[in-house]
Amino acid sequence: MEITNFPAVDREIKKWGLRSESLIQILHGTQESIGYLPEEILSYIAEKLNISLSKIYGVVTFYNFFKLTKDAEHVITTCLGTACYVKGGEKILNALCNKLNIKPNEITKDNKFTVKTVRCVGCCGFAPVMIIDGKDIYGKLSENEAIEILERYMIP
Ligand code: FES
Repeated sequence: MEITNFPAVDREIKKWGLRSESLIQILHGTQESIGYLPEEILSYIAEKLNISLSKIYGVVTFYNFFKLTKDAEHVITTCLGTACYVKGGEKILNALCNKLNIKPNEITKDNKFTVKTVRCVGCCGFAPVMIIDGKDIYGKLSENEAIEILERYMIP
């Protein structure tokens, strides 16, 4: 693979030094700039710091704040814990995925939405629950209500 120049990485290397001990800071700063750490970036860092790519992957996958893939603009999390599942959580998940024409964990082509699942978010009394962008919590949902809420986020 051709190694190209990535200014966001070069900035971090300049800031933290061209040494393997700076790996975490360089990865962190690069992710702050780009939003995630794609393979070509990790290869570039490996080449620059003379560290094996597998070692860098080991570090990136060890810490859960590093992201290897880009997140969508809106992350919808549907709960499939027992209480939510019993109250129709899977139907909510399927309705959202059908509306967006994606499978769970995929990102829409316009990069706006992804739908993830979680096992209990601690509000079982409001089952079934979905959370949008980690902060907007909706409970006691029907499929239609979930779609109506989703449509509010679709407005540009
Ligand atoms: S099972 Fe969904 S909030 Fe607990």
